[in-house]
Amino acid sequence: MSQPAETPPSPFLDPAFPDDPYPAIDRLRSQEPVHWVPNFGFWFVTRHDDVKRLYNDPEYATPDRRVWENYVAPEEGSFMRWVSDNGLFSLPPAEHARVRKLVSASLTPRAVARMEDQVREVIDRFAQPLHGRRGVVDLHSEFTDPIPNTVISRITGVPPAGDDEDRFRQLAQDTIRGFFQFVDPSLQKKGEDAFVELSSWVREMAKERRDSPREDMISDLVQATNLDDQLQTEEIVMLVSGLISAGSETTSIGGLIALRTLFDHPDAITRLRADRSLLPNAINEILRFGFGGPGGLPRYAVRDFELRGTQIRKGQMLMLSFGGASRDPAIYEDPHVFDIERDPRELLVFGNGPHYCLGANLARQELRCMLDAVLDFLPEAARYREDLQEVEETAMFRRPVNLPVDFGD
Ligand code: HEM
Repeated sequence: MSQPAETPPSPFLDPAFPDDPYPAIDRLRSQEPVHWVPNFGFWFVTRHDDVKRLYNDPEYATPDRRVWENYVAPEEGSFMRWVSDNGLFSLPPAEHARVRKLVSASLTPRAVARMEDQVREVIDRFAQPLHGRRGVVDLHSEFTDPIPNTVISRITGVPPAGDDEDRFRQLAQDTIRGFFQFVDPSLQKKGEDAFVELSSWVREMAKERRDSPREDMISDLVQATNLDDQLQTEEIVMLVSGLISAGSETTSIGGLIALRTLFDHPDAITRLRADRSLLPNAINEILRFGFGGPGGLPRYAVRDFELRGTQIRKGQMLMLSFGGASRDPAIYEDPHVFDIERDPRELLVFGNGPHYCLGANLARQELRCMLDAVLDFLPEAARYREDLQEVEETAMFRRPVNLPVDFGD
């Protein structure tokens, strides 16, 4: 008599999983689309339609981490407690929509198109020294890393020109790294300290702009609110600090992943060199193909419910898998093929629904302009130096921290 097939152990227990997560994710999607990950204590959700639905359905799932059964509230009166209770992910839906509206007008496709000159100016500043360079260049520290932060600084007006740009970049990056679940406590503490410092910078600027407005986002926000009301000043602080931290690390890693994906597919670089009008579509395909891996975004169940026959309890965490959704064959034909001319519709890498990424238009524009500049300075013979790649280990990820490229002799 044949034995019933045993469910294989969770891929998250296998240290090699982050190196090549897709075979295991494919298996989960087809056999166990709602999979319990014992070592982290969350449900890993891998089907595109489930991921989309859970982003969108506040009746079932919320990004508010206070709902999590394992939530430990930061100390009463601490800044992180205030963030936890007042940040964009914790506001009640109507309040969230009101606050979001204050800033979304500055980031519509039309508004972002108007920023293109500013974005290109920033990119040019970092691209110029790379023309004619020889030897091995770390394109992350010299190019993809500093650009997004400098762009968001130009747009928001924080910090003012001449202030310490490097310090500002470090604070924004530390903030977002500390924000994620499953990072070690020292990173969380660093993130908390960084967010306090970043916010006090923004608070000072908001006060200054109240007296003498300029052409920047903080001045617009100050004018859009009634500043006799102290809470609204704090809302500006929360919004702008949130934008700065959400817009820096994500796009910096985005640039790194975009270039890495292209170096892995040199034929795509050749196609783009021949026809740059393919760039906007290529960015979407890079986002689909490259922004997956073993990670995802958390949601917390606001009630008991059943998902694909699995019982989810109120308070449990669901990790919505990027790689699961972006490589789902129900949506994308030959999902493991990188094809810069496919139509990668229904992308979920920027989320979906009420918390859809406010910076998605800007991020796409930055990535497109970055790649455009790279095609100008990158010698045809340039090669990615895998042997010099450095990685950082976190509890869940193994992420590259440099992009060593040999520009030739
Ligand atoms: C490649 C770059 C980026 C990626 C992959 C990305 C991804 C995301 C995702 C997945 C979400 C949804 C989070 C959730 O629902 O839990 C999000 C939200 C958000 N993003 Fe981005 N993002 C990027 C760039 C940016 C930029 C440049 C900005 C700022 C200009 C930004 C600002 C925000 C903000 C403020 C939210 C929260 C929106 C809300 O809660 O209403 N992001 N982002």
